[in-house]
Amino acid sequence: MSVLFTTFNLGKLETKNRFVRSATTSYWSDDDGILTDSILDHYDKLSKGNIGLIIKGHSYVTEKGKAHEKQSGLSSEIHSPRMRELTKLVHANGSKIIAQINHAGYTSINDRATASFYELDDKQARELSLEEIKQTILDFGNAAKLAIDAGFDGVQIHAAHGYLISQFLSDRINKREDEYGGTLEKRMKLLLDVYTEVRKQLGEKAIIGVKINTDDFAPEGGVRVEDILIVLKKLHELGLTFAELSGGGPEQELKIRESRGRAAEDSSYFEATWGGHAKKIRSAIPNLTLILVSGIRTRQTMDFLVENNVVNLISMSKPFINEPDLVNLLEKGQDKASCIDCFKCISRNNFAKTMLRCFHKYP
Ligand SMILES: Cc1cc2nc3c(=O)[nH]c(=O)nc-3n(C[C@H](O)[C@H](O)[C@H](O)COP(=O)(O)O)c2cc1C
Repeated sequence: MSVLFTTFNLGKLETKNRFVRSATTSYWSDDDGILTDSILDHYDKLSKGNIGLIIKGHSYVTEKGKAHEKQSGLSSEIHSPRMRELTKLVHANGSKIIAQINHAGYTSINDRATASFYELDDKQARELSLEEIKQTILDFGNAAKLAIDAGFDGVQIHAAHGYLISQFLSDRINKREDEYGGTLEKRMKLLLDVYTEVRKQLGEKAIIGVKINTDDFAPEGGVRVEDILIVLKKLHELGLTFAELSGGGPEQELKIRESRGRAAEDSSYFEATWGGHAKKIRSAIPNLTLILVSGIRTRQTMDFLVENNVVNLISMSKPFINEPDLVNLLEKGQDKASCIDCFKCISRNNFAKTMLRCFHKYP
């Protein structure tokens, strides 16, 4: 039997196989960030599809950090009852579920603010005060506590994709001159403080992970895998349960992205967008549980990545929109995901209509 269908211990949590549904947001919460029936139906289908671990789409930790209309929230107890229904339903179907908590920073729809004054595509963002940073750290802790109280098996801090924490990590965006900006050590302080607060709220044994860019593929400056190695080493020392390796952001250059993250010398995992970076991280921090996302589609690549201990778990997003029962199909012998990467499920014009629906399959 392939190792993909064997159990895994993610800290104290046992997952039934090595498949993860990467966080995938929807426009299906109400205006207060409360989950609607559509979300519950969606997660019902996913968890019936035998996915070991589901990471729920990102939830904002404060209204100020809301990334888009109809995003789900974990900022107050008004969010708890329906989140509790969600976790009960997923558990009843035999999957585990983790909440992803986020602050959008300069991409927020309510308050465009980040590490320091920043301008992109004619949009300006103001600098957060030290007091606001301290409050944001508490907001992450509060969101994590709400998640666990609502029955989630753990939390994932979103430190990728150009949202607030990755904005602080990047020297292109973070020009602060206080303890939260300047050297890498200072730029990673927000992430470390958030992690420490979440750990304080949830306790020593809680499952706390991070989704982090291995590289933001900016033409100059930004975040490189060498920086992230240092950040992850530090988080590992502090007891981080897992890291989901991702990449990219609003300022990425696609040409760089197409080449830099991949392990060109070994084509057997070439389709995994950041397979090369994952390999470097595994060599540097052998005992950290690693999850890899982006572009992974074939059984061959999945088997290779896990059998060779490049990573421990395989994460996918778009393929599960196309085939919520993909894990079962792969187990029965299908050799790859049917997702054709048309990206219509994430096209901004289609957001409200087709988010979490496969536009290719159901045009
Ligand atoms: C519709 C959609 C929504 C997404 N929402 C989130 C999210 O809430 N949080 C997150 O970290 N990534 C989000 N992503 C990114 C995915 O988790 C994943 O990193 C990316 O799609 C690459 O994986 P894939 O090639 O398997 O799709 C989203 C992707 C899609 C297509």
